[in-house]
Amino acid sequence: MKFDSYENYQSKIKRVLITEDEIQAAVKKAAKAIDEIYDGTPILLVSILKGAFVFMSDVCKAVTVPAEIAFMMAKSYFDGTVSSGNVQITMDITQNLEKYHVIIIEDIVDTGRTLSEIVKMLKARNPKSFRVIALLDKPSRRTVDFEADMVLFTIPDHFVIGYGLDCGEYYRNLPYIAEYGE
Ligand code: IMP
Ligand code: MG
Repeated sequence: MKFDSYENYQSKIKRVLITEDEIQAAVKKAAKAIDEIYDGTPILLVSILKGAFVFMSDVCKAVTVPAEIAFMMAKSYFDGTVSSGNVQITMDITQNLEKYHVIIIEDIVDTGRTLSEIVKMLKARNPKSFRVIALLDKPSRRTVDFEADMVLFTIPDHFVIGYGLDCGEYYRNLPYIAEYGE
C-alpha cells in the first residue's frame, strides 16, 4: 500500500470504534476470567501472527497464572480488505500439545475460516484442554460455523484497523481500534 502523503494515510482512519482505555479494561477483565478458570494451572498462550501480537502482549502481561507463549502464523488476507478465501499456515508451533492447556489468542473472528482450520489442526494434537479467545467478533460475516469461547467486543461489519489489525500491513501500531475507509 502506498500513501501520497501523511494526510492521506491519516484520512483513512475514519473513526475510533474502541478506545485504548476500553481495550485495556476489557483485557484486564478477560485476564481475570482466565486466572479464575485455570486457577494456578500452567497454560500455553498461542497467538496467531501477525494480527494478534498486540493483544497477546497485553493478555500475557495481565494474567497471573504461569504462562508459556507461542506463535503461529496464518495468512488469509493478502492485501487490502478482501479475504482470499483460503487459509495458509506459514509458521507452526513446536510444543507437544499433549502436555498443555492451550488458549488461542486471536485478533478477530470474521468469516471464521482461519480459526476453524487452526482449531481443527491443534485439537487433533490432543491438548489437555483448549479454548479460543478473540478480541473482536464480526458475527454478520461468518461463512463457517465457528464461535470463540470468549470474545471481548462484538462489532458490526466494518473493516477495522489498529491494535494489531492492519490494512495492507499498515496501522497495526495504532493503540485503538478504528474504522478504515477510503
Ligand atoms: P477469518 O475471515 O475469520 O478467517 O479472519 C481471518 C483474518 O482476517 C483475521 O485473523 C484478521 O487478521 C483478518 N481480518 C478480518 N477482518 C478484519 C478487519 O476488519 N480488519 C483487519 N483484518 C481483518
Ligand atoms: Mg489474524
